[in-house]
Amino acid sequence: MRSARLSVKLGITVTAMCAVLVVVMATFALASIWRQLDIQAKDGLEEKLSQVEHSLAEGSSSIADIVLHPHNLRDQIVGHDNLTLTIMDSSIPRKRLLRLGEGEGGEVEQPVPKINTSALEFKEINSAEGFETLMAYKLIRLKNDQQILVILTLDRRSDYTLLKAYVKSTLIALPLILLLVGGCAWWVVHRGLKPLRAFRRVAESISARDLSHRMKVQGLPEELSDLAHAVNFMLHRLDGDVQQLAQFSDDLAHELRSPMNNLMGTAQVTLSRERPPHEYKQVLESCTEELERLSRMVSQMLFLASVSQPSAPLTFSSVDLQDEANKVSELFAISAEEKKISVEVSGEGKVLGDKLMIQRAISNLLSNAIRHGSPGSTVTLGLSTLADEVILAVSNVGEGIEGEHLPRLFDRFYRVHPSRSRQQGGTGLGLAIVRSIMSLHEGRVTVSSELGRITTFSLIFPKST
Ligand SMILES: Nc1ncnc2c1ncn2[C@@H]1O[C@H](COP(=O)(O)OP(=O)(O)OP(=O)(O)O)[C@@H](O)[C@H]1O
Ligand SMILES: [Mg+2]
Repeated sequence: MRSARLSVKLGITVTAMCAVLVVVMATFALASIWRQLDIQAKDGLEEKLSQVEHSLAEGSSSIADIVLHPHNLRDQIVGHDNLTLTIMDSSIPRKRLLRLGEGEGGEVEQPVPKINTSALEFKEINSAEGFETLMAYKLIRLKNDQQILVILTLDRRSDYTLLKAYVKSTLIALPLILLLVGGCAWWVVHRGLKPLRAFRRVAESISARDLSHRMKVQGLPEELSDLAHAVNFMLHRLDGDVQQLAQFSDDLAHELRSPMNNLMGTAQVTLSRERPPHEYKQVLESCTEELERLSRMVSQMLFLASVSQPSAPLTFSSVDLQDEANKVSELFAISAEEKKISVEVSGEGKVLGDKLMIQRAISNLLSNAIRHGSPGSTVTLGLSTLADEVILAVSNVGEGIEGEHLPRLFDRFYRVHPSRSRQQGGTGLGLAIVRSIMSLHEGRVTVSSELGRITTFSLIFPKST
């Protein structure tokens, strides 16, 4: 099942969060408005009751006075439609002496509160219509020592109407607010994800044949520009690797084609007519030579592949470069002898590495130096240990290499004189192998050459600590 779009998901989540927030805030506001109205109502009743008490103290000395002259008390509640004043005789329960005011609360059947002290007390009564009536009552002693119960009743219908209006407007506004917030959230997310849609377009147009597309980094937010840089870098590397691979297979096909054609041509010409046995022998010898070169090329390629991408991590040990250089020069003693070339090893140095691979790198350089060294000259393998590097330099005197070839010398199948190299049995993979071995050792190989004079290849290893 296809999951919902991120923008829709985020829009819904933000809306839900906002709904919860608005409901919590509205409930909190409702509670604090109600509390405030309650305090105001109680304060108002308290103040009014103290005014009534004051008026009774000044104007009425007995219950009879109150009943006969209620105008003093009426003045206290004039203008307060929601207020009712009831005076009761405290000695005779349920005997109402006076009721002033037309507040609705006055109509409510009020229970006669039982109180013994003269402290002010409040009571809340819920009316049948669902609103509340607040009563404030107090025992007051008149001048003639008679006690009366003064009850002030506040009809809180208007407070309820206010709260109802608040709840109603909140309920009307809530869906509108949510719709607006949800819409804004969707729009913001949709806009924020625009670069990702551009990423998708680039990803769709990428294939092994065309890795040239890149993500636009300009104007992207920081998080996405990091991602775009990383993707571009990955594409750049992939592009390089794919090109290298394509180049390699081209080169390989080219390298294999000519010897195969040669072998086939020679075989066909030989078979075209009857020949004496010694001619067949000659042809078979030359074919064997060519097949040996091909077989060498295949094993060099396999070795190069294993060095470029080792299947298991290598375990390095301490390698004495002087020992290895001596061993390799002994192996090449015969071919050096043939060209009257002497090989000299000087200096010393120890590195961390793989002995067999280091031997292979040295023999590749030494075989080149002997092959391209002038007859009768000396090939030197000089070792030197610097502050953080150990260098093995293989130098020979010879025709040298022109500057234009130096940058490509370590590429697979690259040769300065292709046909001459093939005739000598070279595959053009020797220096590529040396470079891969050195990069496995976190080192490098460099070359310098003066035409007609000295050519030096240096293996530079990091110094082991
Ligand atoms: N010491 C050197 N003096 C002059 N040219 C050199 C020297 N070493 C290498 N080269 C040039 O660099 C080319 C590449 O060398 P590389 O060792 O990779 O291949 P190769 O020697 O031709 O083949 P292989 O090493 O498989 O026998 C050689 O063909 C040669 O032209
Ligand atoms: Mg070589």
